[in-house]
Amino acid sequence: MESGRSISVNAVVEFNDVSFSYGDADVLQGVSFSLAKGDKISIIGSNGAGKSTTLKISTGLLRPKSGIVNVLGTSPEKREIKRKLGYLPEDASPYRLLSVQENIQYSALLRGVEDIVESTERVIDLFDLSHLRLSKAYTLSRGNAQRLALAMVFVHNPEVLILDEPLNYLDMNMQESVVKLVRKTEATVLVSTHVVSTASRLTDRIMILSSGMIKWIGTMDEIKTDTDSGETIEARLGRMM
Ligand SMILES: Nc1ncnc2c1ncn2[C@@H]1O[C@H](COP(=O)(O)OP(=O)(O)OP(=O)(O)O)[C@@H](O)[C@H]1O
Ligand SMILES: [Mg+2]
Repeated sequence: MESGRSISVNAVVEFNDVSFSYGDADVLQGVSFSLAKGDKISIIGSNGAGKSTTLKISTGLLRPKSGIVNVLGTSPEKREIKRKLGYLPEDASPYRLLSVQENIQYSALLRGVEDIVESTERVIDLFDLSHLRLSKAYTLSRGNAQRLALAMVFVHNPEVLILDEPLNYLDMNMQESVVKLVRKTEATVLVSTHVVSTASRLTDRIMILSSGMIKWIGTMDEIKTDTDSGETIEARLGRMM
């Protein structure tokens, strides 16, 4: 992974000088970063810093005001990219009247999964949803709805994972399972969180976003070495945000 403004040939996710506004309100200003195949990074920043906006732009849901965004070498708005991308929005809401199993199958169908039954069973098992497979989504607890949303993201084995606050609402055991999954996947991962400890659990690299600008990119270890003695990492990161 590297920062900088040049377009790299092998980048899987690439932002080059990207700016974005909602109406007159500037949200991102000159954001540049690049992830190679298999790179994993957490975006951390305060509420309203622009994390979810960055993720939405990387999935093609929002178009930048200026700058270039490429995913797998092309615009994320392209249809062929959708099948290779798994996106968990910040408040993911599965279809309320479909069951857990139906929601996952539907997601698999939309993404052209060949063996829908087998893939559905794989993620039902992965997210421990077997006892809820016939429950309608609207009857699920918030945490179980999050498990379902994650299952719908992972069902097609995406090459690129864009996860907005993936550990939200999950119990400790399921948080640990998701952390392991993110760490061992071969996919390229861009994840957002406002919790520093969550970022360091999910990925070694972090990117600090503040007022729509990237303030720092590097590993937690680099932050530790860079931190004045006596100051905690949280305090140092808090100053940068
Ligand atoms: N649909 C929208 N219309 C207008 N402004 C918006 C919209 N969505 C987000 N914003 C504004 O854009 C800014 C960045 O929001 P964003 O959701 O990207 O922040 P975030 O870093 O994900 O915050 P959080 O930690 O609360 O999830 C905020 O000032 C927010 O109010
Ligand atoms: Mg957000």
